[in-house]
Amino acid sequence: MYVCLCTGVTDGQIREAIYEGCCSYRDVRQATGVASQCGKCACLAKQVVRETLTELQNSQAAIPYPVEFNVA
Ligand code: FES
Repeated sequence: MYVCLCTGVTDGQIREAIYEGCCSYRDVRQATGVASQCGKCACLAKQVVRETLTELQNSQAAIPYPVEFNVA
């Protein structure tokens, strides 16, 4: 889905930018150019960033701690 019609940035591109290391709306904006023209998409772009960061945080919390092996 297009988030920013001015620059043609999609929600997938925003997610990809976060997976590649962006960790804030500001980072995503610099990396993708989203909301850099009229700014009407800023709210939706922030929402996608927030959702993606939350998903990432939750999925990382679900990763089990490394198992320690005891050799008897
Ligand atoms: S719709 Fe994103 S800057 Fe205009």
